[in-house]
Amino acid sequence: MDTAGTPDAVGLELDDIQSGVLHPRPSPYVGTYVLLRIDDRAAGRELMRRLGTVVSADPPTSEPARGAWVTVALTYPGLQALGVPRESLDSFAPEFREGMAARAAELGDVGESSPANWEEPLGSPDVHVALAALSPDAGRLAAVVERARHAHQELPGVEVIWRQDCYQLPTGRTSFGFKDGIGNPAVEGSGIPGSNPRERPIKAGEFLLGYPDETGGLPPMPTPELLGRNGTYIVFRKLHTRVAAYRRYLHERAASREEEALLGAKMVGRWHSGAPLALSPDRDDPELGADPARNNDFDYHDDPRGFRCPAGAHARRANPRDALDHEGSVNVRLHRMIRRGTSYGPELPEGVLDDDGADRGIVFVFVGTHLKRQFEFVKTQWLNGGIFIGTPTEKDPLVGPNDESGVFTIPQRPIRRRLQGLPPFVVVRGGEYCFVPGLRALRWLAELNT
Ligand code: HEM
Repeated sequence: MDTAGTPDAVGLELDDIQSGVLHPRPSPYVGTYVLLRIDDRAAGRELMRRLGTVVSADPPTSEPARGAWVTVALTYPGLQALGVPRESLDSFAPEFREGMAARAAELGDVGESSPANWEEPLGSPDVHVALAALSPDAGRLAAVVERARHAHQELPGVEVIWRQDCYQLPTGRTSFGFKDGIGNPAVEGSGIPGSNPRERPIKAGEFLLGYPDETGGLPPMPTPELLGRNGTYIVFRKLHTRVAAYRRYLHERAASREEEALLGAKMVGRWHSGAPLALSPDRDDPELGADPARNNDFDYHDDPRGFRCPAGAHARRANPRDALDHEGSVNVRLHRMIRRGTSYGPELPEGVLDDDGADRGIVFVFVGTHLKRQFEFVKTQWLNGGIFIGTPTEKDPLVGPNDESGVFTIPQRPIRRRLQGLPPFVVVRGGEYCFVPGLRALRWLAELNT
């Protein structure tokens, strides 16, 4: 098995990279997301200086299970508010400069999910700085949040404009009932092992600016080099989940709890426990789901027609592994994403089919250097459409922008099953494209004198 290699092999400057970029989140976890607006340039720079100290206090080699850290990210209006020179601003990725709200039509964020309906101030030019603090327990979170608060409180000209707490549900699963955060690629040179022994570590440049990516070249990097190097982009989206509607949908189409669980698993590609359909097609296998050595050790070449895991299942769409190898033009390694999402909101108690009005879902977080060919490609081509799997009119059954007329095909013998009338189970409440600077870059931002 290939490992993620030693840090020396690729020469990643680990002491310049923010901890949250490379380290998987702890499990269990508690966390908080805070958005800030910079009204005063000098105060914003002071904020960068202070946050630089907070972030570099996180030992980059800390054990994920013990660690608690803060990640600092900036939106394009945030870079503008700090007075980053025009030449440098223009060197950022076009999608980042446009911002997520401007990409809504492209991303399928329409109807209820459209920016007009987003939670304030998400998607507005007021969002400048995003902070994420994550920790294995409330005690350590409080300590790390306190350090971050110290950095921005009593700084006139810097306002907290939004906050979202998150925590892992007692079940260890996300609101729809599935274990999440299992499949993530290994980053070459990080020293952190990946979860799929069949997937070679992905070139560091797919996730960090300043290193070669899967094309062999360097990803386009903002200038000056001091600002771009060891940075990356993140996407964060608050995704509200309609759990009661999802449960009712399955309930109305299944003759038993077992069949409900099976239909749900077919939609996701994994059972509630995390056990993949590819390895356990007929029933859940909690031991397999809980075993990190086995629960991601599979691909799809022996299931081309999707009898075990439908080609349209969420996880198979989002990472088709070797299923597209026959399509000469598709290199799945160019579309890999690191996910760092977390759950928010209370659990809808087991068996409840009526909505209780609570806000629950996931804060989806993607990390990568290519917003367009990683996050946007996967979202638009693989989740929002089905041309690549020969079902052009079908969208992701769980997270796709379905409109009450969505269809999901489950291959089975003797005849396939079609689920019809799929409504949207996920509503976008807002989000942002951000840039995560390296630590030297944070200092560079703090010392700007424009
Ligand atoms: C509320 C929305 C979402 C929910 C509830 C959700 C849930 C899940 C679950 C349960 C899994 C399987 C567990 C795992 O492999 O970690 C998964 C996998 C995955 N999801 Fe999502 N997801 C959501 C949105 C998204 C979006 C918007 C994207 C991409 C744009 C995405 C990309 C992925 C990827 C890349 C995987 C890993 C697939 C693999 O490597 O096998 N997900 N998701």
